[in-house]
Amino acid sequence: MEHSPAPDPAAPPAGDRREFLTKAAAIAIGGAITAVPPVAGLCVFLDPLRRESPAGASVLVASLSALPEGGEPRKFPVLATKVDAWNRANNVPVGAVYLQRLKDNQVRALNVVCPHAGCFVNYRPGENDFFCPCHDSRFATDGAILDPKSPSPRPLDDLPVEIRKGTEVWVTFQNFRAGEHKKIPV
Ligand code: FES
Repeated sequence: MEHSPAPDPAAPPAGDRREFLTKAAAIAIGGAITAVPPVAGLCVFLDPLRRESPAGASVLVASLSALPEGGEPRKFPVLATKVDAWNRANNVPVGAVYLQRLKDNQVRALNVVCPHAGCFVNYRPGENDFFCPCHDSRFATDGAILDPKSPSPRPLDDLPVEIRKGTEVWVTFQNFRAGEHKKIPV
């Protein structure tokens, strides 16, 4: 004849065990739900599809025929495609550049943003310079600082240019941190 084991006097009653298991499950599920937002935020940060900035990307900006050789600088918008997980938007303005055609189909590109505090510079045909209306910085057509007391800590930011198919002017567009002596990409 079999005997059932004697109850362990140190073991909690069955009702207490059920309550303990219920609480443990609630804590585990709650922890998982709480962890979702930070994890989702990390994914958004790391997912390259969701990065909207075209910083450092090569962008078709103009046709070479729009720039007469030896002519004055001309301002062009920089349009790029912005992509995130849900949308794709073409031709979104992300900045602007001054382009100037030099000899032998060489093209100079300068970011229009003043390195002092981020205002936009304007080309002045009469002065043949770039002028920043915010604090009066002046720059030569190659971007060099003209005024020794210029508030701008560095020349205008030049950008790499590539001529493709003999006619297309592509610019590697990039913004840089204002107020710094060195070009620090942002
Ligand atoms: S922002 Fe251009 S001079 Fe200050």
